[in-house]
Amino acid sequence: MRIRGREYRSVWMEDGRVCMIDQRLIPHDFKIASYSSVDRVCEAISTMVVRGAPAIGAAGIYGMALAELTGEDLEDAYKRLFTTRPTAHDLKDALDYYLNSEGGPVERADRYCDESAERCRMIGVHGAEMLDDGMKILTHCNAGALACVDWGTALAPMRVARDRGKDVHVWVDETRPRCQGARLTAWELKEEGISHKLLSDNAAGYLLASGAVDMVIVGADRIAANGDVANKIGTLEKAVLAKEYGIPFYVAAPSSTFDPDCPSGEDIPIEERGDDEVTHMFGMGENGVFTRVRVAYEGCPAFNPAFDVTPARYVTGVITEEGTRK
Ligand code: MRU
Repeated sequence: MRIRGREYRSVWMEDGRVCMIDQRLIPHDFKIASYSSVDRVCEAISTMVVRGAPAIGAAGIYGMALAELTGEDLEDAYKRLFTTRPTAHDLKDALDYYLNSEGGPVERADRYCDESAERCRMIGVHGAEMLDDGMKILTHCNAGALACVDWGTALAPMRVARDRGKDVHVWVDETRPRCQGARLTAWELKEEGISHKLLSDNAAGYLLASGAVDMVIVGADRIAANGDVANKIGTLEKAVLAKEYGIPFYVAAPSSTFDPDCPSGEDIPIEERGDDEVTHMFGMGENGVFTRVRVAYEGCPAFNPAFDVTPARYVTGVITEEGTRK
């Protein structure tokens, strides 16, 4: 991805440190975080310095490389990295790749990330074939380059369509509670020069009913063997509404997100995060200082599942690096 005139990946390794774009600060600031211990990489994944299924996988595999370089026990490092975030299957895919492949530590991790970026580029190539000039697409959360090594999953078709001279418009769900849509997707689309408009999550039903959406494309954190899809909380209701209003609902995901050992959506572990993500909001104050404000009364208990499961019957197709599966 090109940011401030420079090519970046979301995660990489440099001078023995795992480096990553600090996604907690975007769009207000752009900083690179870097870590020299597996514990710090685990913390970065848990606290969402890096997030998005393929990007979590990339951070995980560089964590393994770091473990080997610093002489840590690999089995122990695997366990600690694996338990940082339970839903995205890409993490296991990446950690297993590390253990089952040949080459030096950084070489193995770099190769996995090259392959991961290429999978996303191909999702863009296949997905762009479905997009016509003037189409209006709704997306949820952030499944762009930041969420992957590069290119994105749900946003990759829009980038490729734009490169082919097609003008598409993207409706961006804000995606409470962490607002990955408002903070990251809107910013990525601005950087890419792709037409977009942000909406509050509550407005999506009204929008889908109004005829202003031609297609929904979202990413995925895990796809079960029966085709059920876990993705960011709030995806399910968009899928149900899309079916009600006859709007195609596509999931864009690389093979690393498919979990053949998980029979159905009921078997996908759903991460629950802290109450404060719901009771508070975080952003840039008018005074230019990062600010956290409490919205609910002090101590209000909250329910905060990070993902939901969309049953396969609501999914029109899955755009993968090999083409679109119905
Ligand atoms: O909690 P997050 O921000 O890691 O959740 C991310 C999502 O749900 C994305 O839609 C998903 O990982 C697909 S990313 C290409």
